[in-house]
Amino acid sequence: MCGIVGYVGEREAGKILVSGLRKLEYRGYDSAGIAMIVDGAIDVRRAVGKLDNLQAVLDADPLLGTTGIGHTRWATHGRPSEQNAHPHRAGDVVVIHNGIIENYVALREALVAAGAEIASETDTEVISHLIDAELRKGGDILTATQAAIARLDGSFAICVMSAKEPGRLITAKNSTPVVVGLGEGENFVASDVPALLDYTRDVVFLEDGEMADLTAGSVEVMDFHGNRRDRKPRRITWDPVTAQKGGYKHFLLKEIHEQPQSIIDTTRGRIAPETGEVLLPELEPLLAGIKQIERVVIVACGTAWHAGLVGKFIIERFARIPTEVDYGSEFRYRDPLIGPETLMIVVSQSGETADTLAAVEEARGKGAKVLAICNVVESSIARKADAVVYTHAGPEISVASTKAFTTQLTAFYLIGLELGAKSGRLDPALEAECIDALVQLPNLIGEALKSEEQIIRTARMMAPAQDVLYLARGINYPIALEGALKLKEISYIHAEGYPAGEMKHGPIALIDENVPVVVLLPNDEVYGKTLSNLKEVESRGGKIVAITDYADAELTKISESIITVPRTSTSLMPVLLTIPLQLLAYYVAVERGTDVDQPRNLAKSVTVE
Ligand code: AGP
Repeated sequence: MCGIVGYVGEREAGKILVSGLRKLEYRGYDSAGIAMIVDGAIDVRRAVGKLDNLQAVLDADPLLGTTGIGHTRWATHGRPSEQNAHPHRAGDVVVIHNGIIENYVALREALVAAGAEIASETDTEVISHLIDAELRKGGDILTATQAAIARLDGSFAICVMSAKEPGRLITAKNSTPVVVGLGEGENFVASDVPALLDYTRDVVFLEDGEMADLTAGSVEVMDFHGNRRDRKPRRITWDPVTAQKGGYKHFLLKEIHEQPQSIIDTTRGRIAPETGEVLLPELEPLLAGIKQIERVVIVACGTAWHAGLVGKFIIERFARIPTEVDYGSEFRYRDPLIGPETLMIVVSQSGETADTLAAVEEARGKGAKVLAICNVVESSIARKADAVVYTHAGPEISVASTKAFTTQLTAFYLIGLELGAKSGRLDPALEAECIDALVQLPNLIGEALKSEEQIIRTARMMAPAQDVLYLARGINYPIALEGALKLKEISYIHAEGYPAGEMKHGPIALIDENVPVVVLLPNDEVYGKTLSNLKEVESRGGKIVAITDYADAELTKISESIITVPRTSTSLMPVLLTIPLQLLAYYVAVERGTDVDQPRNLAKSVTVE
C-alpha cells in the first residue's frame, strides 16, 4: 500500500508531485521518490523515511521538469531502503507501483536470464524491466505497458514514463485505486482524491482492468487491450481544508473533535423529521433481491471489525436476525457457509482493505448479497458491493481510526433500525427511543468531549504503564477492544480488551499496582456485576479508571479516576463510551512522545494481504 502521483503539463512538476505525496503520506511513509525526464533522460531522487527526507534531497539537488511521477512507499517486498524506494528505472522506462506482483519471482528469473540487471529487492522493478524489454522490440510506451501487464499476476496501480516520449504518462489499475485528475493544459494521476484537490476537482476513477494515456492536452481511458472506454468525469465537492489539521496539533485530535459533525453527516437525510422513520433507499434494491434474510455475516478488519461486533448486537436486538462476525483475513480461508439467504455486511473506512475486498468476492461468488459500510466514495469495496451505506465522515488522515469508527456504528444503528422495521420485529418503543437517541447523539458527543481535562490527568498516570487492561460487558465489550487497540496503535503500550466477567479466568494474574484497568461501566443491567469484578481488581492493587454515566459511592471509592459521559439509550452507549477512550489513547501517546498521526509500522489502508 503506497501512494502514487503523476503530473503532465506546463508547470514545474516537482512541487505538484511533492504536495500530492504529502496528502498521500497516510498510505505509507517508509520511503519516497520522484522521477522526471530532464534533457531527454530519466532523473530520479529518492530518500528513505518520510517525505521531509525526500524534500531535503530535492533542496540539495533539485529536479526540474514539467512531467513526472512520485511515490510514497509502505514496504511489502524488500525492506525500506533507498534502493527499494520507487520510482524504479530500467533503460528508458521508469515506474511507480502500488500493490503486489505475485509472480515477480518467476518474472525476475526470466528477466535476469535474458540479461536484465535488477537493482532492488522489490516486486515492482520487474514491471519497469518488462516494459523496457517490450519497448526495445518496437511500439510505444502504451503498447509496451499493455504487453507487460499481460504478464503480471497480482494487484497494481502503476504510473509509467519513458525518456523516449516526454510529456506522456501511462497509468493502469488492477485491484488498487487510481484516480485521474483532469486539468486545463495539464493532467494528473493519484492514488486518492486529496492529492488532486489543490489542482482540479474533475476526476475519473479507473475501474479494474482499465488504463489511461495522458498528455498535457488529452486523457484517453481504455481497457488493457486498448479498447476505448467512455468515462464521464465526476466533480468532487470536498473542501480541501477538511484535509488540513484545522488548528489542532494532530489530525487525530482534529478527527476526534469532528465526530459530532461527522455523525450529523452520516444521519443527514436518513431520519425523516416528521415521522422519525429511518430512510435508507440504498437498501431497497438489495432487500428486494433477498426473499428473507435468514442470517447476517459481518466481515471487516481492525477497528471496522470492532464496529462489526457492535453491529451484531444491534442487528440481533433490533431485527432479531442471527448475526456472526468474522475477520476479513479469516473469512475466505474457512470455506464459509454463505449463500443467497445470507446478507453479508462488510465494513471498511477506506474501502480498499485487501482482506475485506477478498471476502466480498468470496461471498458474492457463493451467491450472497453484499452491503458495504464505507467512507471512501467509489472505493473498490463500495464498487464491488450490491449496495453501499456511505458514512460520509470525510477524509480520515490519521492512521488510527476514530470518526470512521463512530460513523460506522451510526450506520449500523440506521441499518439495524431499517431491517427491524422492515421485518416487523422491532419493538416500536425501542425504535422511538433509539431514533431519538440518534438525533441527540452529536450533542451528547459534544458533552463527552468536555471531559478532556480529567482525561489528560488520567493519561499522565497511565503513560508509564507497560500493560493496560480494558474491561466491559455486552454491547460495550467491543468498545473495550477498540480502546485497547487505540492505545496499542499510537502509544505502543501493550493493552488488552476483555469481557469483564472473563477476567477471573486468566488475565487477573496480570494485575498489580503497575497495571491500570480501564473499565466501561454504564448504568445498565450488568452495572453491579461489573462493579464486583472491579473489587477483584482493587484488592490486587490495580489502578481503576472508570468511564461511566453513573458513579455511585462504591465506584468512586475504589477508582483512581472517573471519567463521566452523558447518559443515552443503552443501545447507543457504545458511541459515547468510545470518545474518552480515543482521547485517553491520544493523550497517553502525546505524553510518551510518539508519532501520533503516523505510528510506526502502520499504514492507513492495508491494500495487501
Ligand atoms: C484502526 O485504527 C486501524 N487503522 C485499522 O485497524 C483499520 O481500522 C483497519 O485496517 C481497517 O481499515 P478499513 O476500515 O479502511 O478497511
